Amino acid sequence: MTTASFSSDSRSQVAERPDGGGEYLFTNNWFESNAKRVWEKLFAQYKPGKVLEIGSYEGASTCYLIEKLAQNLSVEIHCIDSWGGGIEHVNWEIDMAEVEARFSHNTALAISRVSRPVSLVVHKGLSHSCLATLISQNQGNSFDLVYVDGSHQAPDVLADAVMAFLLLKVGGILIFDDYVWSENLSYGRDPLRCPKMAIDAFVNCYFRKVEVIPAPLRQLYMRKVAE
Ligand SMILES: C[S@@+](CC[C@H](N)C(=O)[O-])C[C@H]1O[C@@H](n2cnc3c(N)ncnc32)[C@H](O)[C@@H]1O
Repeated sequence: MTTASFSSDSRSQVAERPDGGGEYLFTNNWFESNAKRVWEKLFAQYKPGKVLEIGSYEGASTCYLIEKLAQNLSVEIHCIDSWGGGIEHVNWEIDMAEVEARFSHNTALAISRVSRPVSLVVHKGLSHSCLATLISQNQGNSFDLVYVDGSHQAPDVLADAVMAFLLLKVGGILIFDDYVWSENLSYGRDPLRCPKMAIDAFVNCYFRKVEVIPAPLRQLYMRKVAE
């Protein structure tokens, strides 16, 4: 049986799986352009059964993971998103309630397309709070894969990285999106509004605990090698 459970702060509810149907509703190609080519190679060899995604938006990366992994094995996928958008989205006039509705539609459709059970656990809230909750629920050292694609502000990314590391198993893979991304601001580029400084600080501090996996630099890939 496949269920989707939605937790918000301390409240949670379990919903029956919707039937899906129709077509995916995506309004951008962020996942296709940044990740898909490398993920195809990674998941040809590596088969994570328990996945954590920070930043899901319309579910493009989530749906890829469901369709790729749950053809052959049961998967548990946790998605954290505030569905409030990032600071970089404020001028885009995006209706985030519609984005969240597309996430629900898209993930239900992905689940309806695979043969193996999918447990999709949705944590709606700010990542630092949801990650701390997962740690306090003894989920440390339990995830095979963590994908960090939430806030792109350096202090937020650093907090996400440190807590993601605690949740990841030794041998698990940690992926950061938008390693070399920056905004075009009126005053130029702002390193505090980019993930790179935080990812670099994390990799430096965890030098003995992570091993960077060579790949194109739009995303940074690493394996946890020690607690
Ligand atoms: C770039 S999008 C994620 C894209 C998605 N992985 C995909 O493949 O399409 C970033 C998401 O992170 C969420 N977000 C931004 N800051 C956040 C925070 N501090 N906590 C939780 N979610 C956050 C936004 O609401 C947005 O949906």
